[in-house]
Amino acid sequence: MKKLRTLVVVHASLVPPESLEGRADKDIAEWRTEYDVTTTLRRSGHDVRCLGVLDSLTEMRLAIKEWKPDIVFNLLEEFNGIVTYDQHVVAYLELLRQPYTGCNPRGLMLSRDKPLSKQLLAYHRIPTPRFAVIRRGTRAHVPRKLHFPLFVKSATEDASLGIAQASIVEDAAHLKERVAFMHEQIGSDALVEEFIEGRELYVGVMGNGRLTRLPVWEMVFGTMPASLAGIATRKVKWDKEYRGKYDIITRAAEELPAAVLAQLDKLSRRIYRVLGLSGYARMDFRVTADGRVYVLEANANPNLEATEDFAESARAAGIAYPDLLERLMSLGLSYRAQWR
Ligand SMILES: Nc1ncnc2c1ncn2[C@@H]1O[C@H](COP(=O)(O)OP(=O)(O)O)[C@@H](O)[C@H]1O
Ligand SMILES: [Mg+2]
Repeated sequence: MKKLRTLVVVHASLVPPESLEGRADKDIAEWRTEYDVTTTLRRSGHDVRCLGVLDSLTEMRLAIKEWKPDIVFNLLEEFNGIVTYDQHVVAYLELLRQPYTGCNPRGLMLSRDKPLSKQLLAYHRIPTPRFAVIRRGTRAHVPRKLHFPLFVKSATEDASLGIAQASIVEDAAHLKERVAFMHEQIGSDALVEEFIEGRELYVGVMGNGRLTRLPVWEMVFGTMPASLAGIATRKVKWDKEYRGKYDIITRAAEELPAAVLAQLDKLSRRIYRVLGLSGYARMDFRVTADGRVYVLEANANPNLEATEDFAESARAAGIAYPDLLERLMSLGLSYRAQWR
């Protein structure tokens, strides 16, 4: 690939240092993705600058105006603490006619809004757990037509925020308690879904027009006691010690029935198109013992850390990390935004 002037845009607190020397593991974990991306792009010969964004777009506009990057490598996941505002930053890049990596603003908006994306998926007969939304400021009730056990999560947050064993509720009292927690502690509308018992599978997809589906990845719950449900709680996702204790890992899914694999392949591509995604994304699925596949959500711009699921599954497909980043840049350069 030709050498690209690359402006890596990150959260202001996550601008990575030049090297890992003398840094504690705990600190490194915070900006590992930003570090992996910038150092890898530099090693590949690109001209890389990293810009931190907090609550203003002035610096980004000036950097684009003055330095004229070929591409913005977008690693922002929020704007000033609000996760649903990342789309506006990308929309602003489009207004500036600036090519960028990752998903377009409309795809970000649709996939971030879980109830809305589930309505779109349902319209296209893509199986997703039956659900109801209990808005903030309204009273919790047991949604009609839904059957316990139910699962309570945030309508807009990600990264398993607010997800714990207590998210699975078996009766009206626990449902009300968890919905109140979602409204008051997490501060968002509650999405109540039927609980899907089964395997937890992740499918990466990248592309704009022609799509590449990466090998199916699975979260395996190791030696977690049977009294705990195999779900990706906040702890499971982010607490390394906890994962180690129970041998919880993610890896290529083994012994998937051919029919399930075919479904995952077809569905992940359809979801990508229905939500109008671009760049790269990862779909989260649950699959029951009798082979029924349900999509939980689509994640636009999933984590790009070199040892996280997306990059690992790309590696399993023979795409080394530097090549993966270059492909994402090529996709950003070729994305047909409206201004083109
Ligand atoms: N309806 C459901 N049935 C079973 N498990 C669920 C359901 N919804 C979510 N989960 C569990 O909670 C995790 C996080 O939910 P998800 O919708 O993917 O939100 P996030 O955006 O936080 O990743 C999932 O990976 C899965 O383990
Ligand atoms: Mg998820």
